[in-house]
Amino acid sequence: MNPASELPSEPEPTVAEPGSPAVPDSAPARAIIVVAAGSGQRLGAERPKAFVELAGRSILEHCLDGVFGMHEAAQVIVVAPAALVPEAEEIAFRAAGAARDYVSVVSGGATRQESVHAGLGLLLDSVRTVLVHDAARALATSDHLERVAEIVEQTGEGVVPGLAVADTIKSVDAGDTITGTVDRSALRAVQTPQGFPREQILAAYAAGGDDHTDDAALCAAHGFSSIVVAGDPLAFKITTPWDLQRAERLLAERAAAALAPTRTVPALRSGLGIDVHAFDDDQPLWLAGLHWPGEPGLSGHSDGDAVAHAIVDAVLSAAGLGDIGGMFGTDDPRFDGAHGSVFLEAAVERVREAGYRIESVTAQVVGNRPRFSPRRAEAEELLSALVGAPVSLSATTTDGLGFTGRGEGVAAIATALLADIRASSSTRPVV
Ligand code: CTP
Ligand code: MG
Repeated sequence: MNPASELPSEPEPTVAEPGSPAVPDSAPARAIIVVAAGSGQRLGAERPKAFVELAGRSILEHCLDGVFGMHEAAQVIVVAPAALVPEAEEIAFRAAGAARDYVSVVSGGATRQESVHAGLGLLLDSVRTVLVHDAARALATSDHLERVAEIVEQTGEGVVPGLAVADTIKSVDAGDTITGTVDRSALRAVQTPQGFPREQILAAYAAGGDDHTDDAALCAAHGFSSIVVAGDPLAFKITTPWDLQRAERLLAERAAAALAPTRTVPALRSGLGIDVHAFDDDQPLWLAGLHWPGEPGLSGHSDGDAVAHAIVDAVLSAAGLGDIGGMFGTDDPRFDGAHGSVFLEAAVERVREAGYRIESVTAQVVGNRPRFSPRRAEAEELLSALVGAPVSLSATTTDGLGFTGRGEGVAAIATALLADIRASSSTRPVV
């Protein structure tokens, strides 16, 4: 470690040995000082606050989850009560895992300001941006921490996350009599981490002065202004027993959500197709992929299989590939008299190539004949095999109305459901 030399000499703090004497290969440009040396009087627990158990682990360890989840490497300096430096070291190294060389633990002081000061004494020379973070903000996310560092680097200013104040704020006199209502639009409830360019925070702490409860106040006292950026409600500080139970609940909800079974819901697209062919007594009947001996056939360039053609249009339209005429051309001699299965196989192939999986198809035959129900199962089996997905068929008449009612021909309507297997599918909890 290569401590900062800019600070005035202070009584030597107790410094735990880092995980290894080696400075990490690529020296970090950021540092985060996690202050955990407070006693936690308002929490009133038996142990100093950062070492109090929260959902089976210490508050400090939860806080370090956020720290070690940051994308960019940072020097991590944990400031602990003198008597608990070894325990803090154990917690910090466990949280750091493979990143333990980035970690140091040092004993803090009687005030938060003194604790931060002790942490600053360990800054590596490579560090340009310093974040100071309360261990008591156990649920602050990695994104929240990282955002503050990024804005410091973009602006060159001190950065403090803050939330608008929701309550009406009153000013009172010594006897608690209200003296006025404060304009809350000009107020922010600030959080940590508070981030600063290295030189600013070192200069402010080197100058020292009155005790301040946050770093931005000390920096401001020495002429370094800070900006407030959006805070995160999750970065609340555990101060009272009520806060501790709230953090417990939030973690329990998070754990339950992580355990909830999920299923992948693909991006779905539906398609529709209709086809009509007139009867032609001179042709054999091919319908729904089957030959129907003894029945009048259907006229058409192909075999006139209205069901197969409607299904082709349904799957093509679901995939955004146009329709049967556009794909095969009604005048193409290659399809002269071709069976519906030829078009169907070709359309299924094109749809697959375009990145879709056919989930299901439904078709309905509209006409007086043939009597469909005796061969419905046979037709479903054949078409399902061709499509590679369940195909359901049904048939109806039109009560003597229209061209189908007059027995002039057959109509078929089909729908298809396709899964877009290229689109990122969403994972949703099963409800
Ligand atoms: N802190 C510190 N050294 C101190 C005082 C506070 O490192 N001498 C740290 C705390 O551990 C905490 C953060 O500063 O993570 C914010 O302080 P606060 O919430 O006030 O914690 P405590 O001082 O521990 O609590 P209390 O004020 O209720 O005693
Ligand atoms: Mg305090």
